[in-house]
Amino acid sequence: MSEFDNEPSFNPSDNEPFASILERNWSRRHVMQGGLALAAATLLGKLGIARGDMQDNGANATPLDGMRDVQLRFDSVAGSKTDAVVVPKGYTATILAPWGTPLNDKANPWKNDGSNSAQDQANAVGMHHDGMHFFTIEGRSDDGLLLINNEYVDQDALHPDGPTRDASGKRPPEEIRKEINAHGVSALRITMRNGKWRVMSNDPLNRRYTSATVMDIAGPMAGTDHVKTAFSRDGTQARGTNNNCGNGYTPWGTYLTCEENWPDIFINRAETLPADQQRLGIPTQASRYGWETAANDSSERDDEFARFDLTPRGNDATEDYRNEASTFGYIVEIDPFDVKRRAIKRTALGRFRHEGCWPGKLEPGKPVVFYSGHDGRFEYIYKFVSEANWDPADADPEDRLAVGAKYMDKGTLHVARFNDDGTGQWLPLTPETATQQNDSTLGKELGGLPEIILNTARAADLVGATPMDRPEWGNVDPANGDVYMTLTNNDEREVDQLNAANPRPRNENGQIIRWRETGDGGFRWAIFVFGASAKAPDTINRSSLTQDNQFASPDGLMFDPRGILWIQTDNGGNAVAEASNDQMLAVIPALLATDDVPLATIDARNQKKLKRFLVGPNDCEITGFAMTPDHRSLFINVQHPGNWPYAEDATLAIPGGNTVRPRSSTVVIQREDNGEIGV
Ligand code: FEO
Ligand code: CA
Ligand code: CA
Ligand code: CA
Repeated sequence: MSEFDNEPSFNPSDNEPFASILERNWSRRHVMQGGLALAAATLLGKLGIARGDMQDNGANATPLDGMRDVQLRFDSVAGSKTDAVVVPKGYTATILAPWGTPLNDKANPWKNDGSNSAQDQANAVGMHHDGMHFFTIEGRSDDGLLLINNEYVDQDALHPDGPTRDASGKRPPEEIRKEINAHGVSALRITMRNGKWRVMSNDPLNRRYTSATVMDIAGPMAGTDHVKTAFSRDGTQARGTNNNCGNGYTPWGTYLTCEENWPDIFINRAETLPADQQRLGIPTQASRYGWETAANDSSERDDEFARFDLTPRGNDATEDYRNEASTFGYIVEIDPFDVKRRAIKRTALGRFRHEGCWPGKLEPGKPVVFYSGHDGRFEYIYKFVSEANWDPADADPEDRLAVGAKYMDKGTLHVARFNDDGTGQWLPLTPETATQQNDSTLGKELGGLPEIILNTARAADLVGATPMDRPEWGNVDPANGDVYMTLTNNDEREVDQLNAANPRPRNENGQIIRWRETGDGGFRWAIFVFGASAKAPDTINRSSLTQDNQFASPDGLMFDPRGILWIQTDNGGNAVAEASNDQMLAVIPALLATDDVPLATIDARNQKKLKRFLVGPNDCEITGFAMTPDHRSLFINVQHPGNWPYAEDATLAIPGGNTVRPRSSTVVIQREDNGEIGV
């Protein structure tokens, strides 16, 4: 079941500039695909690009000629509904780094009864693994550092008897600290010997970032009144990163962790909430975990619990935590190889429920670009464009975080508008930008850049961005720079809210959208594939999926350097979920293209090329993707399984109707013949 099945929508704006009816969109799509293909062919012609030589692909480029040799050479696995991982014949799936794995000797071994302490948890792998990245050590494929997001916690699995409260509703400080320590990011050295990966306990690079770790604030918000708190009176520091969902990475070798459903850890009991808190959905009745209930406990240090209550109490912001939530909602940069440097919140990339953050096609002398989606119903897709132009000498710098400051602290955040005709625009979120609703500007409506960042989603409302069906992961095709993003689902979209990019009402299946930058602040887009049950009618199953590749609620999305697109799902409560647990599929978009249709999409003619590679155990979602440079070890995460893992072999289910304490875990996929994954 998806973590956010019951997610309310917080976007009250009426941004439907392309409101249309279902019928129009359905018939239109067929017209558009032909038209778009022609347009794309023309565009490539104009740019003087022949399809065969789109080889200037940025940092992790592989020549397209090489990519053409790549074929998916595994048989699609069947849908599955067991307490086990399923992989194709000839592959193995092995548990690595489940929740609670000690990172050093300060942590006791994980205990099966939930009795590990908060101190143990601070020195062990966090809970609910999500996005991750493998940082190779010296280019090796048997030694590296894995950074893993730990998105949220299952309180029932974390504690011996679930979460507790006393008669007054107060929660025990030790439980809260354990929950705080189970969130964030885990960094762990892993090595492979004789084909088997293991976590190197006590490695000096092993460490945790939790919902309490001190971090720096950089970019437009740094030092502003908006982020001053009793903890950081000059507004330069924050405590913790939270609900880190999708991830990212930079061309200069750092990790990006992205704050998604953080509003829920707070509560604000004030009569009227600040506009940004209303827009992002800060709770007014009860916080998700009740961390604030232990405020004023005799053991409390530095307001460690009080800070989750945003209700103003002091004379100004430096005397309370009214601004604590303004220190969340950002992209956070971590230098994986320097344990002494603090993580940095890069506020220029906007403040919202960031799913993840992915670099665009990298070109020397051009700005560095990052894409990010706001995971919420009717929320937006964003693009950050650096002020500095890319210098290839920055790819391997002495001071990685200084390079991060160069490219991520100054630049322009944009939001996407998808036009019905397959074109789109990036709308800059700057004080000068005109708003749609009246003869005004963002500067007049919201203030300067810090106020625009604080109210990113509101700024996007005002300029007329297109509300999407819950943007999740994005990634760039190394073959040609095309950008893909999953739109996971949106069961609240009504017929009068449809547009060509979000064309299905009460969309429970999701779609993957793709665009190609046109270099003039615009782009051309198409829907790459529609999730659906194989049994659904054509109006829903628009990509003609079958039993072999039906999927719904796409979430994780990653190209590997060979041009294989991996799609992961976080689905529940629909016909696809009845047929199979969450899964990972693969397809090579470059191989779908023909000379006539360079921006090919998936339909009845080519759908067989979309293949199911893996199915997860009951109740889980599949998320997170990392690969070794030799493409022989693939790491994925199984998040919130119901009754798994049972053994080191991830493909084994516990026999006899017995149960285990569930543990989210990284799983290593390898081939029995040690060949490359997928091909
Ligand atoms: Fe945490 Fe949008 O998934
Ligand atoms: Ca999740
Ligand atoms: Ca996700
Ligand atoms: Ca999701």
